[in-house]
Amino acid sequence: MCGIVGYAGFREAYDVLLEGLKALEYRGCDSAGIAMINKEQGCLEVAKVAGMASLLEQRTRGKLSRSNLGLGHSRWATHGRPSDKNAHPHVSCCHTIALIHNGIIENYRVLRAALEKEGHRFLSQTDTEVLVHLVEKYYRGDLLEAVREATDRVEGSYAIAVVCSNEPQRIICARKDSPLIIGLGQGENFVASDFAALLPYTRRTYILEDGEFVSLSPESVEVFDRGGNKIVKEIYEVEWDIAAAEKGGYPHFMLKEIMEQPQAVRDTLRRRIDLEAGRVLLPELDLTAEEARRISKIYIIACGTSSHAGYVGKYALERLASLPVEVDPASEFRYRDPLLDQNHLAIVISQSGETADTLEALRLCKEKGIRVLAITNAIGSSAAREADRTLLTFAGPEIAVASTKAYLTQLILLYLLALYLGQLRGTVTREQGAELVRGLNGLPDQLVKILTPECLTELKEIAVALAHWDSIFYIGRNLDYATALEGSLKLKEVSYIHAEAYPAGELKHGPLALITGGMPVVALATQEKVLEKTLSNIQEIRAREGAVFLVASEEFVGIERQADWVFHIPRVHQLLTPVPAILPLQLIAYYTGLARECPVDKPRNLAKSVTVE
Ligand code: F6R
Repeated sequence: MCGIVGYAGFREAYDVLLEGLKALEYRGCDSAGIAMINKEQGCLEVAKVAGMASLLEQRTRGKLSRSNLGLGHSRWATHGRPSDKNAHPHVSCCHTIALIHNGIIENYRVLRAALEKEGHRFLSQTDTEVLVHLVEKYYRGDLLEAVREATDRVEGSYAIAVVCSNEPQRIICARKDSPLIIGLGQGENFVASDFAALLPYTRRTYILEDGEFVSLSPESVEVFDRGGNKIVKEIYEVEWDIAAAEKGGYPHFMLKEIMEQPQAVRDTLRRRIDLEAGRVLLPELDLTAEEARRISKIYIIACGTSSHAGYVGKYALERLASLPVEVDPASEFRYRDPLLDQNHLAIVISQSGETADTLEALRLCKEKGIRVLAITNAIGSSAAREADRTLLTFAGPEIAVASTKAYLTQLILLYLLALYLGQLRGTVTREQGAELVRGLNGLPDQLVKILTPECLTELKEIAVALAHWDSIFYIGRNLDYATALEGSLKLKEVSYIHAEAYPAGELKHGPLALITGGMPVVALATQEKVLEKTLSNIQEIRAREGAVFLVASEEFVGIERQADWVFHIPRVHQLLTPVPAILPLQLIAYYTGLARECPVDKPRNLAKSVTVE
């Protein structure tokens, strides 16, 4: 969602801020702005546009004064449409204080009315603007103090960075329920909402916790708690480098990330399987056999793609750990009345570890005394810090808005978890366990077989054929239905084609009415026990002149005659087929998006990290 970058040091702040904003755009951006302290005159200079950082640069490069300290913000609209006025930074009436904010101020209406009564003039429709007027109200010569008092008055979530021309050498930052990171340099320091903006300069960081305040200058970074007491922070050294967050020769991040999947799976499996013993090792869980046997039910809670991984997890956990599993979108879970008891386990899945609904669901489970396990790609994220236990996917940075490699590594962890719980609970035999461990270990090599130039060309041709349709069905049974859900979401996001996933057996209960001449249906057939049933459903579609694009396991011989086009995925263990099966669907979405000239890495209206409800 919105992105924050701030700089205090010896470089031209303008360059650092613009580069930072560009690096953060992948999170979703509809307007951008900067505020800098003019070096000579010590006054504030602010520039904002409705549009991306490149437009801001076009309008401002060479036109602003020199500065070594400033803030930059990329906005993803929640309150008030994208416009120059609604873009951050917001500025106080006396034009001395500028503030940028990620999050939502829930009580902004009440605060705004009160501040207007006191004479503050508001220029935007945003919730954020109340913050800068509150800081102005409480400013008595100490910006840190004013920020502390202002944040005491607000309800909601925030990561903020504030500058004041009366204190031209420092930036004040604070966070609650929205990520904020400090980058540590020599004679320069940084603040950002995401590592991507810091990596060209430093890998040494502080990850801020809720309720922490920072005073940052070129020479120092001081962290305080809400009571004003100094906190000694641990330095977190980022392991991945800037190359991992660049395209590396690929035309788009999405394609790069699809191609990285064999390696991402290898990295996620590393040290977690013992091939010789045929066992899974998850010491991070710190779980005894007795504790595992006491679990009576699992809730998997997540949003979007991560919840689709959850559906695959449900099948694996039910089959291997013999446990009942419910999967809920986090936005639904938090507003229903789940019947939780102490022997239940909640698993929250989140690539970013910062999705607002998922975090609220996590907190709800903890409040009710349920143990929470987080599966996330973001070390140090809120989900990782707040859950009782964390399993990290090692997908590396995922920059394209549409998730690919993070999804695949979530599947891997869910398989590992199901098998591990099965081992502890005695619900998988030694032979079954060993077969699956071998199967998991072999997955990267099988994925490589799908990522060949020949396969890519074939999938591109299909994409071109699909690109002129307005609506496409995805169908499958059992695990294939879970894959269909994810495949259809990918197509929607990156090609803007309406795509809907259905359990294949449900077609005749309604959707079949829509099948007419040539209407495309993407079908999946990887599950032997429902193969004949799925093939019957395919024939029902073809009898109505629908065109079927089938993704099927290579061991199903003779299946070519059953569809208009068939893409074979390599043979893997029946439970693991969602791993190879999603690759052709990701690639179809990617190439269809390209054929329709869509911005595949940054689809309209979407954000990488959804930190607001
Ligand atoms: C789709 C996509 C989203 C995310 C969802 C949850 O490609 O990426 O549906 O999966 O916004 O995000 P995380 O996993 O960060 O909680």
